[in-house]
Amino acid sequence: MSDWHDIGTVEDIPRLGARVVQSPQGNIAVFRTAEDEIFALRDRCPHKAGPLSQGIVHGKRVTCPLHSWTLELGTGEAIAPDVGCAARFPVKVEGGRILLQVSAVAAVSDHSAGTLA
Ligand code: FES
Repeated sequence: MSDWHDIGTVEDIPRLGARVVQSPQGNIAVFRTAEDEIFALRDRCPHKAGPLSQGIVHGKRVTCPLHSWTLELGTGEAIAPDVGCAARFPVKVEGGRILLQVSAVAAVSDHSAGTLA
């Protein structure tokens, strides 16, 4: 059963940046666009599992840091000619706070604090 979890404020995420939420469903990358829209995708590129949270956000898309696949933040779908999809998680903003629908949250961290395994 998934519940809404408060993972911090919109301002906690730099524009065009991301935070990583650790959950039983794996790491989730929560992105903020230049227009302050928030999206959440599994932090695992459908190509070879690159950390999307360390990618480049542009418009409503993110480009993977490893081999530059680009995914739609709203759907998780790769942009053609690449084919694949990163799981999308429901996310909403209420009163400036970000609510993410997952079964549980273990920890929240800035992507810059993460390390490539
Ligand atoms: S792992 Fe993301 S493009 Fe290759």
